[in-house]
Amino acid sequence: METTLRIAIQKKGRLYEKSVALLRDCGIPIISSGSGKLLAKARNFPLEVLFLRDDDIPKYVEENVAVIGIAGENVGLEIVNPDLILEKLGFSRCRLSLAVRREAEYPGPEFFEGKKIATSYPRILRDFLQEKGIAADIEEISGSVEIAPAIGLAEGVCDIVSTGSTLLSNGLREVETVLTSEAVLIAAPNLDPEKQALLEQLLFRIDAARKARNNKYILLNIPNDKIQAVADILPGMKSPTVLPLAREGWSSLHSVVPDNDFWLKIADLKDIGAEGILVIPIEKMVQ
Ligand code: PRP
Ligand code: ZN
Repeated sequence: METTLRIAIQKKGRLYEKSVALLRDCGIPIISSGSGKLLAKARNFPLEVLFLRDDDIPKYVEENVAVIGIAGENVGLEIVNPDLILEKLGFSRCRLSLAVRREAEYPGPEFFEGKKIATSYPRILRDFLQEKGIAADIEEISGSVEIAPAIGLAEGVCDIVSTGSTLLSNGLREVETVLTSEAVLIAAPNLDPEKQALLEQLLFRIDAARKARNNKYILLNIPNDKIQAVADILPGMKSPTVLPLAREGWSSLHSVVPDNDFWLKIADLKDIGAEGILVIPIEKMVQ
């Protein structure tokens, strides 16, 4: 039987779309299996996609039910075993925050003294409160935490905030950040050699897709005596290609530069006389 890898991604929520997009950028689209299906196949790679609640993903990977997963860095299972983390993915950033009713007066963390806080992350919250010297009652619930204040279950909540729209639509206000998190790629330990080899192929593709996303191909026209100045402005621009232009004393410069670099430096480039600047997305980048 052909070896197949199983990847666990979020069923719906903060991580879902970017996880699917990352696979698509790797040339591995998921074959849609209709809503509600928890297992799907993918095209172009022996991959099966398991859709789970984000908080459950680390456990499935740790127990080898999925060999790889995209999970929240430090909220799923409360703290993801660092040995499982291969790399941070830089998307789906979020915070684990304390929130209170919008109209509540909030003097500071002492607000929570003697009060009840609903959360799915009791251990992280307990440590946070302990550090602040606050004695509060932690009510552990596994979902729909944001509804707790409205139904009188708790005075505050400790939950994940991404865009803030869940808090807003439930009449809540964020008052303390407990921790910040982002998506991470996790992998099961001790894979058999065949799976390990496939995993490496997949990681290679993920790496190429991510590098491509974080870099741009840039072309610009510049007087010959300013070529070095461009390189000084964009240190990420390693050995650019320089082509002579028909226009006397000018060259066309081509290179790959990190996205951020470029946007911060565009005014400086124009100041030294760069013209005809083109910034082009890169499809894949293999080094
Ligand atoms: C978290 C959290 C909120 C939502 C907040 O859910 O429980 O429901 O994200 O995001 P927002 O600030 O953009 O509204 P998650 O994506 O972890 O899904 P889950 O509730 O199924 O665990
Ligand atoms: Zn979640």
